[in-house]
Amino acid sequence: MNETMKVLLSQRSIRKFTKQEIEPEKLHEIISAAQWTATSSYFQTFTIINIKDTEKRAAIAEIAGGQPWVVNCPVFLMFCADLHRAAKYWKDADKKVFSNHETFVVATVDAALAAQKAYIAAQSFGLGGVFVGGIRNDIGALCELLKLPKLVYPVFGMCLGYPVGEQAQRPRLPLDVIFKTDIYDESKDEALINEYDQEVKEYYIKRTSGKIDDTWSERCLKTLMEKPRYEVKDAIKAQGFTLT
Ligand SMILES: Cc1cc2nc3c(=O)[nH]c(=O)nc-3n(C[C@H](O)[C@H](O)[C@H](O)COP(=O)(O)O)c2cc1C
Repeated sequence: MNETMKVLLSQRSIRKFTKQEIEPEKLHEIISAAQWTATSSYFQTFTIINIKDTEKRAAIAEIAGGQPWVVNCPVFLMFCADLHRAAKYWKDADKKVFSNHETFVVATVDAALAAQKAYIAAQSFGLGGVFVGGIRNDIGALCELLKLPKLVYPVFGMCLGYPVGEQAQRPRLPLDVIFKTDIYDESKDEALINEYDQEVKEYYIKRTSGKIDDTWSERCLKTLMEKPRYEVKDAIKAQGFTLT
């Protein structure tokens, strides 16, 4: 297996970090990797904000529902979907176009692709990290905290640093469930997902010494129902997205 594939298949979210700082030249390369991602129509509709201020970190950790790794990680990056730049510098545009659902999807996807590239670059340096979607608990508060102009919203944060210890990987769905040929054939999915549910249950029992014994379906449903975030719709609109 080549080195790139080893990195790509080594996914595990890291939430505990050593005190070692990330070398500035490595961070620079990580951000460059993010920038050199494919971008819808060459739009480059994302902005990354490096959050260094400790008070801001504490506020973000709180907004995210109390996630200490936001404070403790050496680097915390906020990935924002950004149509502000486009609306400001692409002269004579019909401004409506920046508030439609298509440009919202474009900017959100751009931010996500950039983030994944940054994450892989970090992993290639032996760093680890975790995405923090919990920041969407209060998009409005974050927009204020980070002085985000209209047509910019925070999609998620990302903690990065040198990992403490090794941890088991979370099992993924069987490949046949997520990879189809020609049509959406789900005839084998139910049996495969039942099997997978048991695999995840065993994984949780082992990892938590029996404290958690959820299947994959049970665990995901709990998470979803705990935080359905219906209010994201209004927060996104308040930033000027999806109005037209
Ligand atoms: C967009 C996104 C948002 C996430 N948000 C959080 C989060 O707020 N807190 C957290 O601890 N993990 C978060 N995660 C990490 C996922 O829980 C994790 O990737 C998933 O459970 C699979 O585990 P693994 O990354 O260890 O393989 C997020 C991941 C993604 C891709």
